[in-house]
Amino acid sequence: MGKFIIEGGVPLKGKVRISGAKNSALPLMAACLLTEGRCQLKNVPQLVDIITMKKVLEGLGSVIERENEGLKIDCTSLSNYEAPYELVRMMRASILVLGPLLARLGRARVSLPGGCAIGRRPVDLHLKGLVQMGAKIEVREGYIEAYAKRGLKGDNIYLDLPSVGATENIMLAASVARGVTVIEGASRAPEIIELATFLRKMGAKIEGVGTDSIRVEGVRELHPASYSIIPDRIEAGTLLIAGAITGGEVVLKEILPHHLGIVLAKLREMGMEIEVKDNQIRILGNHPRPVKIKTLPYPGFPTDLQPQMTSLACLAQGTSIITETVFEDRFAHIAELQRMGAQIERKGQMVIVKGVPFLEGTIVKASDIRGGAALVLAGLAARGVTQICDIHHIDRGYERLEEKLSRLGARIKRVEE
Ligand code: UD1
Repeated sequence: MGKFIIEGGVPLKGKVRISGAKNSALPLMAACLLTEGRCQLKNVPQLVDIITMKKVLEGLGSVIERENEGLKIDCTSLSNYEAPYELVRMMRASILVLGPLLARLGRARVSLPGGCAIGRRPVDLHLKGLVQMGAKIEVREGYIEAYAKRGLKGDNIYLDLPSVGATENIMLAASVARGVTVIEGASRAPEIIELATFLRKMGAKIEGVGTDSIRVEGVRELHPASYSIIPDRIEAGTLLIAGAITGGEVVLKEILPHHLGIVLAKLREMGMEIEVKDNQIRILGNHPRPVKIKTLPYPGFPTDLQPQMTSLACLAQGTSIITETVFEDRFAHIAELQRMGAQIERKGQMVIVKGVPFLEGTIVKASDIRGGAALVLAGLAARGVTQICDIHHIDRGYERLEEKLSRLGARIKRVEE
């Protein structure tokens, strides 16, 4: 297990290229299960979660080659229908193979993901949708046992909340189901639009993505396609906050600024100077002003940037209020930030952050991807040395984070233990 050692206090300066989006690459990898032949995904980040999904697909019989910045995925002969506990417990997004396996093989056995460091995270909406499409599903001995012997059939599915994963799983299954599926209350996130665009390239008929009503007309079969993954809006947001929290000047290259609308608005509200030009964003950090943030499904403020914004709010001149509405327990970073001198009080889903003049380096522990990133940001701004343990959580979602930060001037190194 490794740790980061950060000597804080250096304003970051320079340009940085944003990697492909993990949360877009994962559902696209699952989509490859829907066809025979070889699909090609480009700009796939080199991350632990991508390796986990690769292992899940290989366990099902897929043949996958990594090539430069991409993956060639051949799911012609699937020899298995099980995603085992050992892999699903490492990454919940493994559940995305459920819909494609049911659609292609009429049978799937996927370990129940269980809770994780940010909350319970049930998968009831995924299952409810697939049952409505004709799947028989039982949960036995910690596994979802699913059958669709006579195939899946479209229906009108109403999601109680706009779950990204449930929208993806149902869309994947619906693309080759009989008849029309309408998903009401669907997620409007960019990752859904990307999945639909890839599926359309494979021959699927999907309309309405980007709205909360998605219509999928099932086709008999899909064919292989190639696709380039969009830039990671959460990595981009994290690096913008790195520029802001260190009072630096950072330029992000190769990004899609419209995916970051509310994040840029909140950073501006906090006094940061931001310039957007084509596919670049430049941020000039200033002493932060306090802010009110409430996480919401896209296009609301992303929960995946809540911990990082909390780190920035720790140094604001005044009191910020941050409310988490997407996950009930995404607060593990708070106790660690308090150890660095932050004044934070949690009241249920609300966090009250009283800004302090400075944070102090100490030993802290990452417990999830984005909470871990929040500690890196705090360490970059803190006085003295911060050691962050359990950085394998951070590696799940950030590609060579310490290298990118070092190139911007940060004094950060990885130590393997
Ligand atoms: C995805 C992202 C994750 C991000 C999250 C919210 C991936 C691989 N992960 O996760 O980084 O934080 O979206 O933007 O893309 N829920 C249910 N029942 C369900 C499904 C979800 O109650 O069947 C709840 C969850 O517990 C959570 C909320 O819905 O409270 C949103 O979850 P969801 O959008 O499904 O998140 P993921 O797809 O798991």
